[in-house]
Amino acid sequence: MLVSATEMLNKARAGKYAVGQFNINNLEWTKAILLTAQELNSPVILGVSEGAGKYMTGFKTVAAMVKAMDESLGITVPVALHLDHGSYEGCYKCVKAGFTSIMFDGSHFPIAENVAKTTELVNVAHNLGLSIEAEVGAIGGEEDGVVGKGECADPEECKQIADLGVDFLAAGIGNIHGVYPANWEGLSFETLAAVNAKVGEMPLVLHGGTGIPDEQITKAISLGVAKINVNTECQLVFAEATRQYIEAGKDRQGKGFDPRKLLAPGFEAIKAKVKEKMELFGSVGKA
Ligand code: 13P
Repeated sequence: MLVSATEMLNKARAGKYAVGQFNINNLEWTKAILLTAQELNSPVILGVSEGAGKYMTGFKTVAAMVKAMDESLGITVPVALHLDHGSYEGCYKCVKAGFTSIMFDGSHFPIAENVAKTTELVNVAHNLGLSIEAEVGAIGGEEDGVVGKGECADPEECKQIADLGVDFLAAGIGNIHGVYPANWEGLSFETLAAVNAKVGEMPLVLHGGTGIPDEQITKAISLGVAKINVNTECQLVFAEATRQYIEAGKDRQGKGFDPRKLLAPGFEAIKAKVKEKMELFGSVGKA
């Protein structure tokens, strides 16, 4: 059931668990995530970066595929189709394409410009019943060409953006997209606690979910994080399972080269990873 992310995240915040945002790249990713959410009776957010949107030939294609798949698989758990790290123009494209949720990443703009653009997009999203995420303090690392330095957000700026009526807020707390370097210092819980104290009941978003130790995830949830984004980890397990299949020579046995067989181990690996994360985040049975 395609819905905005507002209600599922308000419930998660109140219930002290988090909903996973899993980024999609193609049909296999989408199907694996939807089926796992349904099996575990968990709400879920499908994240689409601008790069992944382009790869899938545009947001219109993505929205059509997700809507049709949601229907044909008989998915009854709440599913939000969400633009990840959207540009100003990207937000408008996704609104038009039929997404149910958008993220406007204005974190690289001066705060006044972030405020002006976020205000405009909050109105657009809410008039159409969509949810909207904003960001303060860039998330480190690189995702699909979007590069951030990994700053910690200023709690005052978080309050300023939260007060514009966004539905959930991504605040940089030392998190980084992709695999964490060996010398990573961990999440800044000091920053998270300060942001949480400023923004009331606003669900907070933790980007860069890949590789964050379980105990830091649990602590972040206790401090107001209600949405956790995972992308790279699904890519890594998909690649590894596919490598094992090919290295075992299975693509050369019988009709093992059939894409439905070749991609099956990766598909199952994504399902297992999404299940592991939903259990860790506490969203199982919360649909
Ligand atoms: P990872 O790729 O590090 O899991 O980050 C995902 C993310 O934050 C998407 O916005």
